[in-house]
Amino acid sequence: MMGVMLMTVSAIAQVTPMVLGDKHAMLRLDEKSKYILLPVQETEEIAAIAVLDGSNNMVQRMNVKLAVDRVDYFVPYELKGAKLFDIEFHGDRRQKGAVSEFTCWKEITFADKFDAANREHFRPAYHHTPQYGWMNDPNGMFYKDGVWHLYYQYNPYGSQWENMHWGHSTSKDLVHWEAQPVTFEPDWLGSIFSGSCITNGSDVVAFYTSAGHHQTQSMAVSKDNGLTFVKYEGNPVITSDKPDFRDPNVFWYESTKRWIMILAVGQEMQIYSSADLKDWKYESSFGQEYGNHSGVWECPDLFKLDDKWVLICNINPGGPFGGSATQYFVGQFDGHKFTCESMPKVTKWLDYGKDHYATVSFYNAPENRRVVMAWMSNWQYANQVPTKQFRSANSIARDLGLFEFGEETYVSVVPSKEMLAARGAKLKQPTEACEIVVDVKGGAEIVLSNAKGEQVTMKYDASKQTFIMDRTKSGDVSFSEAFPCVTKAPTYGSMKQLRIFVDRCSIEAFDVEGKMAMTNLVFPSEPYNNIKVKGGKATIYSIKN
Ligand code: FRU
Repeated sequence: MMGVMLMTVSAIAQVTPMVLGDKHAMLRLDEKSKYILLPVQETEEIAAIAVLDGSNNMVQRMNVKLAVDRVDYFVPYELKGAKLFDIEFHGDRRQKGAVSEFTCWKEITFADKFDAANREHFRPAYHHTPQYGWMNDPNGMFYKDGVWHLYYQYNPYGSQWENMHWGHSTSKDLVHWEAQPVTFEPDWLGSIFSGSCITNGSDVVAFYTSAGHHQTQSMAVSKDNGLTFVKYEGNPVITSDKPDFRDPNVFWYESTKRWIMILAVGQEMQIYSSADLKDWKYESSFGQEYGNHSGVWECPDLFKLDDKWVLICNINPGGPFGGSATQYFVGQFDGHKFTCESMPKVTKWLDYGKDHYATVSFYNAPENRRVVMAWMSNWQYANQVPTKQFRSANSIARDLGLFEFGEETYVSVVPSKEMLAARGAKLKQPTEACEIVVDVKGGAEIVLSNAKGEQVTMKYDASKQTFIMDRTKSGDVSFSEAFPCVTKAPTYGSMKQLRIFVDRCSIEAFDVEGKMAMTNLVFPSEPYNNIKVKGGKATIYSIKN
């Protein structure tokens, strides 16, 4: 079905593959067409495609799960003068028959258009998603001249993790996003892993990890507000012999008048400094014995909030409910070293759901705000969730602050004020995309359900000061054993109001004061259009599109 729906073509040309053996084929590309549409079968092994130009030079390399006996969907490759695909197949099944028998050869099409229209059942209505293909971490987010920029880890050649690019979207209100051209494609230093952007005068400077044989850090400069970048000729700017060495996050530190970069290195964060963004000096490391170490530390962020500094440390696995999650540390930073103010064993989580990862903040947000977005998935099953045309959405934007509880300072998380502006008319019952505000007095139970008997139960226990969300009966939970679960958060005192954002395949619940945030995916076969509330009163709002 997906194959048919994506093939709105205005010109079709004959495909003449040259099958040279069980594992090898070549494909002459049609010079008159803009795209070749490649059929993907997600359960297949990868085919490595080398794209050659008219001088037989390789201009690109990509890994695509070319269909063997069934087409899940098509992905477009823009030809841009490419002349030949040299294709190397992998996997046991290659021994059994000539590749000329494979479905891909019958279905490959040349076309002038690719229809990326959004038709999928679980495609969120008001969360950011890629137009098609796979997305993971938010990257290089910054604000400039009234525009919020969001780059993201992107695979345009399949809806599973592979071929890391930076995709790009922009927004004027953090709710409505406009797709922009792809920013970075893999180069000979490697594929383009996560990183950050800073603004320096009118320039935007991007830092990302070049993931080749080793992970190294690279830089690129944009003179057109982040639309296009020129890579620095001295790349890579930082190298290491460590296998996990990635996700550079850069910011300006006024007191020492130096740029600071924080990098995730195995299970610690390393801090570097520079006067010119090109030469970087190692300053210090943070992490040994602090917080959770059950996985690799990734995607750091370090920023000032009020009079303290917060170090964001995404970790995978090791999350409170398995897999990926965002922990953070509160302390001080002096331009050289981050010092955590808590005892080493104290672990703090930014969100107590199962689908909240790779959280980082926007550089240069207005009004001194610290606005963050997360990737709404979990590495335990991100590649298997029941969508096809695209995989993964971002969380709604959230603003961070600080609050005290007991001896500790915690980071508060509230939906960004732009979500209030997006509130539409009051509704009588929940819809597939709405906000539910629940005023609670003491404990409360909220059940969202549909006519199929699928349901999500949320419970606020006022005496234990906990909030739970149970998605074990939420709909399709069969694609991964790790998916059905009950997530539980401390509420650090009592809650007066909950704000719950539902959007087709996600539920994000917030304490109105920011002391609890919980983000979980759900895949109901039809929208939850029923709500039952005990111990509270719900008001439901549509979201303006
Ligand atoms: C986190 C992560 C990063 C890496 C990127 C690769 O989800 O593993 O550490 O840069 O994804 O896509």
